[in-house]
Amino acid sequence: MKKQILILNGSPRKNKTTYSFARTIKALAEDMDSGAEIIHIIDYFDGKKSLGDLRDILISSEIVGLISPLYVDSLPSYVIWFFEALSKEMESELEGKDFFAIGQCAFPDVTMNEPLLESCRLFADTVKMHWLGGLSYGGGVMLDGAALESLGKKGEKIILAFKMALENMVEGKKIPLRSQELLTFKIPTILYRPMTIVLNHTVKRDAKKKGIDIEGKVYLE
Ligand SMILES: Cc1cc2nc3c(=O)[nH]c(=O)nc-3n(C[C@H](O)[C@H](O)[C@H](O)COP(=O)(O)O)c2cc1C
Repeated sequence: MKKQILILNGSPRKNKTTYSFARTIKALAEDMDSGAEIIHIIDYFDGKKSLGDLRDILISSEIVGLISPLYVDSLPSYVIWFFEALSKEMESELEGKDFFAIGQCAFPDVTMNEPLLESCRLFADTVKMHWLGGLSYGGGVMLDGAALESLGKKGEKIILAFKMALENMVEGKKIPLRSQELLTFKIPTILYRPMTIVLNHTVKRDAKKKGIDIEGKVYLE
């Protein structure tokens, strides 16, 4: 069944892991005779594009999907801004459309993306979209934007997970559990601590490059 999919890239980086997932999903959709368009949320946040330009794209899309990195255990602020702007300005265009989300984070632990996916489900409910489910990938930082086809067995599993998800979604069905199983891997407990140190360092370094301070203390009242 032919469907038009709008893919929202939630990363401010236009050519990294989020984009790599998005381009694979676009290619898979096209292989299934569906169509897909990728937009970068950061362009709307930065004012390079206006939300009004999205109206026609939204109207012609049956499925909308967010693919996003995890930032400080949640959705990046640009994505929250985008969701709020959409819910104010495009509610009638969104109503009744199918919606899915894919969260990916640095740590190889898929449970970390649960709050992000839950926020997406809540957004879908709020704007009366039909929630098709979410997928979580842990270890996105290690892919560093590589094309999934170049990653051997690891890439094949991710591609298969996305393919199965899409096959169901174009038929209006929810993402099957098998897709998440393919994306889930267990790392040996002994590796957890050294891996955490390396990944924490990488995340802090990337955040610093963007002028984001994630080491500041959080004070609660
Ligand atoms: C400001 C910031 C905050 C982050 N917070 C988390 C986090 O809480 N947990 C995590 O596992 N990864 C975190 N990451 C890592 C990103 O989710 C991860 O590197 C992701 O693969 C980046 O996607 P991209 O390459 O498409 O930009 C953070 C990265 C940045 C820059």
